[in-house]
Amino acid sequence: MVLELGKDDFIISKTDLKGKITYVNQTFMKIAEYTEEELIDKPHSIIRHPSMPKAVFKLLWDTIVQKEEIFAFVLNKTKNGNEYWVYANVTASLDENGKIVGYYSVRRKPNPEAIEIIKPLYAKMLETEKRSGVEASTKILIDILNEEGVSYNELIISIQK
Ligand SMILES: Cc1cc2nc3c(=O)[nH]c(=O)nc-3n(C[C@H](O)[C@H](O)[C@H](O)COP(=O)(O)O)c2cc1C
Repeated sequence: MVLELGKDDFIISKTDLKGKITYVNQTFMKIAEYTEEELIDKPHSIIRHPSMPKAVFKLLWDTIVQKEEIFAFVLNKTKNGNEYWVYANVTASLDENGKIVGYYSVRRKPNPEAIEIIKPLYAKMLETEKRSGVEASTKILIDILNEEGVSYNELIISIQK
């Protein structure tokens, strides 16, 4: 079943440097159908959906380790096998010396029209990944950005609107 976020819902989580969950808010637990004990100290991939291309997560990690923020549409899987789309922003948390101490993500309800654009793109990327690997799948994304003359975040923000 596809679950939908309410328009005022925010899903928040924090991770350590490796992507292990250190904090989740109530909305996270409610939609993901896990308890706090089931989530804390687990890798964030606990809610990974198999339809998500690896290339999206590679781009996510490549971006946040550089202390840059990233916006992404992500399909997640709940404990009971339901699924939900989010519009996510992920950033590094820095200490007073500018050193990364963990990561932080805030997600909200995606624009349904954006999801209709993203679904066929991710399906194509996933299929390419299975056949030719993550680099080939990343190239699909980069070709679109070059064609449109925009950065990845600009593209994602523009389709959420
Ligand atoms: C702060 C933060 C939030 C994340 N949120 C999600 C998420 O909601 N869903 C997800 O599948 N991966 C999320 N990830 C990425 C996971 O760490 C992981 O890279 C991804 O699930 C792919 O799993 P894999 O690297 O084991 O293939 C997040 C990472 C960070 C740092």
